Amino acid sequence: MSTSIALNNLHGRHIVLGITGGIAAYKSAVLVRLFVKAGAEVQVIMTPNAREFIGPVTMSTLTGKPVITEFFSANTGEWHSHVDLGLWADAMVIAPATASTIAKMANGVADNMLVTSYLSARAPVFVAPAMDFDMMQHPSTVRNIETLRSYGNHIIEPAEGELASHLVGKGRMEEPEAIALAIDAFFGVSGPLAGHHVLVTAGPTYERIDPVRFIGNFSSGLMGYAIANAAASMGAKVTLVSGPVDRSLRTYPGVETVQVESAREMLDACAKAFPESDIAIMAAAVADYRPSECHESKIKREKDGIDVIELVKNPDIAATLGQMKRPGQVLAGFALETDHERENAKDKLARKNLDMIVLNSLRTPGAGFGVTTNAVEIIFASGNPAISVPLKSKEEVALEVVRAAAILLPL
Ligand code: C5P
Repeated sequence: MSTSIALNNLHGRHIVLGITGGIAAYKSAVLVRLFVKAGAEVQVIMTPNAREFIGPVTMSTLTGKPVITEFFSANTGEWHSHVDLGLWADAMVIAPATASTIAKMANGVADNMLVTSYLSARAPVFVAPAMDFDMMQHPSTVRNIETLRSYGNHIIEPAEGELASHLVGKGRMEEPEAIALAIDAFFGVSGPLAGHHVLVTAGPTYERIDPVRFIGNFSSGLMGYAIANAAASMGAKVTLVSGPVDRSLRTYPGVETVQVESAREMLDACAKAFPESDIAIMAAAVADYRPSECHESKIKREKDGIDVIELVKNPDIAATLGQMKRPGQVLAGFALETDHERENAKDKLARKNLDMIVLNSLRTPGAGFGVTTNAVEIIFASGNPAISVPLKSKEEVALEVVRAAAILLPL
């Protein structure tokens, strides 16, 4: 995975993580790290079997809290209150959830601390099943999972892949990052952009010369993807129009990605989505020119002897949307300048009828193309004071950009 997606909605949340006895228990340590890094407080409850798969010391070190397994502490006789835990939790996550624990949860078999706490929990519950393919398919498991759904529990569907049994099929616990994202997205649904539609462009465009060659650029798409993810984490419905980028770039749950190749394809996808959008952020590095013709077959050095490629101007997507813009819609662009940065950015702001422009500072080491950090200045058409964002991760810069655009939305 080449990017990590910021978890923006877990800060200060109380998460009870239930771990049961499956091989995937080793992934729970990574899950805890993600929660803790995002600012959540985590209390781990393990079933007695889970301790055979991962040591409680690992989990208590990562969470900074003793792991609970028994109803009573063997040393002190202290009673662990499942009721208090159930009330403390903002979310309860059971990962991995074995067939046995799922069956107990579905039927109220409260013979361990984990299931007892589950029955007392008032918080939303997320269940990440992990088991062998055949167990997953068994009508009893299928029925039990359906029962949990009917209780309002959220099932994080297992992935397809090679299982511990070496069988291949559905049953592998979803990756910790996907589990953490599902929970983050749950809390993000009621975020500040709930009910709004955001359109984002990302990546380069490729303009074909012949079937195997193109004119492109070095844009990685990282900034645009981070913007789409930030908007989705704030509750927006997001359409991401993406040029050709590394397929391992991840999107936040609910981001609808439209893959395009050329500037003209990008324009078509944007023109379609823009009328329904409240905010559009143009972060793509669109090729300014394309070859005037695309050769049908591969150009041969000997036969075709081409030494000049004729170019024609591509449409300006941001400017086209600027012309389509209705009152109340917010349109934002990016500017990458090498000299007279502010003047050029302001000129672009006016020329393309943008409401806001994000000026990439190429002078700051660590900012711009192909790196994971950026430093920008956000300039507004309204004359609002510019916002200077110092060098930060692209995820953090993305949050600032989306927040700045959100401020411009009509009340
Ligand atoms: O004019 P320039 O390419 O520097 O403008 C940059 C801004 O315009 C970016 O937001 C970029 O996504 C957008 N753009 C566009 N279509 C083009 C060229 C640029 O949408 N053909």
